[in-house]
Amino acid sequence: MKVLVTGGMGYIGSHTCIALHEAGITPVIYDNLSNSSIRVLDQLEKITQQRFDFVEGDINDSAKLAKTMVEHSIEAVFHFAALKAVGESAEQPLRYYQNNVSATTTMLLTMAEVGIKAIIFSSSATVYGDPKYLPIDETHPISSTNPYGWTKVMVEQILEDNCKANQDNLAIALRYFNPVGAHPSGLLGESPNGIPNNLMPFIAQTAVGRREFINIFGNDYDTADGTGVRDYIHIMDLATGHVAAFLAHQKDAGFLAYNLGTGEGYSVLEVINAFEKSSNKQVPYKFAPRRAGDIACNYADASLAKQKLNWTATLDLQAMTDDSWNWQSKYPNGLE
Ligand SMILES: NC(=O)c1ccc[n+]([C@@H]2O[C@H](COP(=O)([O-])OP(=O)(O)OC[C@H]3O[C@@H](n4cnc5c(N)ncnc54)[C@H](O)[C@@H]3O)[C@@H](O)[C@H]2O)c1
Repeated sequence: MKVLVTGGMGYIGSHTCIALHEAGITPVIYDNLSNSSIRVLDQLEKITQQRFDFVEGDINDSAKLAKTMVEHSIEAVFHFAALKAVGESAEQPLRYYQNNVSATTTMLLTMAEVGIKAIIFSSSATVYGDPKYLPIDETHPISSTNPYGWTKVMVEQILEDNCKANQDNLAIALRYFNPVGAHPSGLLGESPNGIPNNLMPFIAQTAVGRREFINIFGNDYDTADGTGVRDYIHIMDLATGHVAAFLAHQKDAGFLAYNLGTGEGYSVLEVINAFEKSSNKQVPYKFAPRRAGDIACNYADASLAKQKLNWTATLDLQAMTDDSWNWQSKYPNGLE
């Protein structure tokens, strides 16, 4: 079986291609390389001994998408392609709505045109807005605090409406908590452009000497050590979560949403400590004032995925920082 992986050259999409391949599903990668390197394809080949088909294209390009889907007899779409920087989305909201929402609608129309009925969508825990309770389950109210988050809320709504109108369609929204880590081979990982938005790549770049120190925003939260607590999930667990969701629901229809997280929270200081252990290096940090909009704690109720998909995260914080360091030390500047 062949599936289209939009954004498959990016961080999460590329690792999911490995998990798909391991499950006997053939990924065909479709990516415009706006936030990824062509070298990912070589790394995937080194890991899987398989050269995946790759089409350089934009999901706005309906003709190219349709041609790719038909030529490869695609049966489902794993849709990762999106812009993902929260801060940037506040500065350039239209670019985000265009790329993440309009282009996804274009792609859904193209899928309908060629008869593809199943989509697995990269959603995010950001659709829960400010948590009203913890742990967050899938029935938690949906909201957002920024345009990026609204693009995820809107696409989920579009998918749900489309499934209501076309009752043989399947859409699974996977709401990721905080994906971190790298493939255990150290050949593939996250290499953000510019200053990282997320904690783990920032720590990794500091440990490897690319950055002087880390700012920890807030050490007076109501948590065990005063720093913010988040639910981090190893990228390979996240990748197998996609395969589990698809295989569990392959023959089903309708709109479904699942949290993908570990259900456990780690504080910023705990992550830094684990990283120091993995790297055997000191990771300098300074405390800075809280950032507006940040919250003390956020973690998933991951029980629905366990129950319905027979999937749970298996890799702990030390595995996350070990693999992150392995990748970062092998490729200090990413793949560029
Ligand atoms: N990384 C996270 O922390 C996180 C958390 C929650 C949700 N997500 C979502 O998961 C998905 C993948 O995230 P990622 O971290 O791998 O990001 P990424 O930037 O590494 O990967 C996205 C890929 O999509 C491609 N792309 C973007 N727009 C495109 C378009 N119009 N046409 C074709 N290709 C396009 C980029 O070139 C890139 O390779 C995104 O939808 C993101 O919003 C990510």
